[in-house]
Amino acid sequence: MPVITHAPDTGIWLLSTPRTSYALRIDVTGAPCHIAWGPRLTLEEAAELAVPPQPEASSFEGRPPVGEELPVDGGARFGPPSLQVRFPDGTRAFEWQPVGHEVEEAAPGVSELALRFRDRVHPLEVTLRYRVHDDSDVIERRTVLRNAGDRHLTVLRADSAAWSLPPLPDYRLSHVTGQWSAESRLHRDRLPHGETVLTSRRGITSHHANPWVMLDAGDATETHGRVWSAALAWSGSWRITTQRTPDGRAGVTGGAGHDGTSVPLAPGEEFTTPVFAGLYSDDGFGAASRTWHEYALAHVLPHPREIAPVLYNSWEATGFDVDEPGQTALAVRAAALGVELYVVDDGWFGARRDDRAGLGDWTPAADRFPSGLRPLSDEVHRLGMRFGLWVEPEMVNPDSDLYREHPDWVLHVPGRARTELRNQLVLNFARQDVADWAYGWLTRLVADNGVDFLKWDMNRAFSEAGWPGREDGADRLWTDYVHNLYGVIDRLRADHPRLRIESCSGGGGRVDLGILSRTDQAWTSDNTDAADRVSIQHGYGQLYPARTMAAWVTDVPNQLTHRQVPLRFRFHVAMAGVLGIGGDLTRWSEEELATGAELVAEYKRVRHLVQHGALHRLRGPEEEGPAVVEYAAQDGSEALVLAWQLVHRHGGPRGPVRLGGLTPGAHYRDTRTGTVHHAAVLAGYGLTLDLPSGDWASAAVHLVRVPARDDA
Ligand code: DGJ
Repeated sequence: MPVITHAPDTGIWLLSTPRTSYALRIDVTGAPCHIAWGPRLTLEEAAELAVPPQPEASSFEGRPPVGEELPVDGGARFGPPSLQVRFPDGTRAFEWQPVGHEVEEAAPGVSELALRFRDRVHPLEVTLRYRVHDDSDVIERRTVLRNAGDRHLTVLRADSAAWSLPPLPDYRLSHVTGQWSAESRLHRDRLPHGETVLTSRRGITSHHANPWVMLDAGDATETHGRVWSAALAWSGSWRITTQRTPDGRAGVTGGAGHDGTSVPLAPGEEFTTPVFAGLYSDDGFGAASRTWHEYALAHVLPHPREIAPVLYNSWEATGFDVDEPGQTALAVRAAALGVELYVVDDGWFGARRDDRAGLGDWTPAADRFPSGLRPLSDEVHRLGMRFGLWVEPEMVNPDSDLYREHPDWVLHVPGRARTELRNQLVLNFARQDVADWAYGWLTRLVADNGVDFLKWDMNRAFSEAGWPGREDGADRLWTDYVHNLYGVIDRLRADHPRLRIESCSGGGGRVDLGILSRTDQAWTSDNTDAADRVSIQHGYGQLYPARTMAAWVTDVPNQLTHRQVPLRFRFHVAMAGVLGIGGDLTRWSEEELATGAELVAEYKRVRHLVQHGALHRLRGPEEEGPAVVEYAAQDGSEALVLAWQLVHRHGGPRGPVRLGGLTPGAHYRDTRTGTVHHAAVLAGYGLTLDLPSGDWASAAVHLVRVPARDDA
């Protein structure tokens, strides 16, 4: 069945996904207007919802601020414009003039609708693009602008899309906020009337907010209720504005750039916004998250079907004190634990002994690696592991040869102080020469040292974001920077198809669907305390799949929180994502090493479920009792349940948890105890978790469907 259909008589376009519909049409003024987004409809049914615009109630009203596909600046519109362009005559009003449309098969199973417009007065072309995959409810939207004239334009705002919700009795907004080492705190609050702005002004996605929202009527739960959600695929500054209007509507507009940034558009130039994807789910927040996860695995990640290896990372063990003998000793122990990828973190290059010097000088430190990195890389490979390296290509310490040679490669404004954060400055990746330099040393580093994995870090926000020597530089650098960052990663990946990359920005400062389309996983947070991680991971997993969520087991007391948490609990928390080890293995006791090896082996037996299964959040960290998640195989053949009891309260709730994703009527064997359960009991009444009493009790229960003939 075609997924994009059109009724020429009503002018309605209908986008159909497996479980949802999205309908729009161009109204009598030429403006693209929203009709419906929700459960499946036919074109005929959608026509019933295409209510003609009501006459304005008074001279104080204009077009409703929610209900257009991309509200512009112009006419009687008083909401936040999703599109605002300054024309050569200084005006900003845009009037939609439809000039055509196309539907095409962009790739097998992917259909795209392009609605083409231009301004009635100025030669600006605007195309709204909608992409639908035949196996996902996610709709991808973006906007393309083209300056078809011979004079310069300035794009003051170009959102990727505006999403409109139906009228509901109430609205609730779910989103995450945070800070360094405290990312992804989930908030679920009543949507305020007026405009609510979520944004990053830092040049990166940021720890402080993440570019996605979920909206519901205030009645959705993990398993029930209607949820509308949108997520932006962009790794620089961004802005998402939700609106709740006096007439009881709600909508979301979002795109790249924060308030006050603009994009110059030269004659003939085209600007394509990032994707702002959206999905509707009938079955609560759990189903919305699973749909995002499946979409990311099927259509975003570069190697979606791969199983991520168990990694070791040296950062918490050695800090900057990195040398060949020390790393070799750790690598030997890591290999014995079952680690598959050994990553040398910060401190291997130049004069990098602390965070004050050396950043930018990407040659191995001669005193620490006298023969370069190759001997260590060879040893790691000989031990049967892959070899990974930390890099921070976008940064420079003023105390470095690179800065001494190229002081104006950094973002700066002449005559103003250069703010150093973590003693470093941001290299202007928007400059092609800087991007080419980074690509050059990175591709050589990877080729010369047998590097299989890069941890690509970025440890500060932009400040004094100027680009001297380029008149429009301070405007265009916000987007050109991100495009060049993407370009360097894309070129590297093309040169080294086996290279895998982890996105890191002081932990989770650059996690979004844009960076995840060209990296393989993300470093979730510098906070490795297992107790804090439970809620950080809970927030992360609302949008992003566990396949991308790197999680390490580190030493106690935790470096950041000083908390003591048992090793098994730390493992059970880290096993909810891509397991890594970050402790100083040279100090682990024989018993700890044996427990670690046992738990790494256990993770390897279940990681296909964690990384590729369907996540069911059975009890959240904010609820009383142990937090519980389940990862069910897509075909219902297995499930893994992880439970974490942080603080034990005597008499607190410890009731059974009802599992999802099981095959009705089947039986499941607990691989540890051998107990066989009925799916009907597990799904309808629940699994009783036998957690010992006391703080830090945890469990990993692996259930495997019993083959039908053994079903007794
Ligand atoms: C910040 C990262 O998040 C850490 O894991 C570590 O790589 C440090 N940077 C190194 O400087």
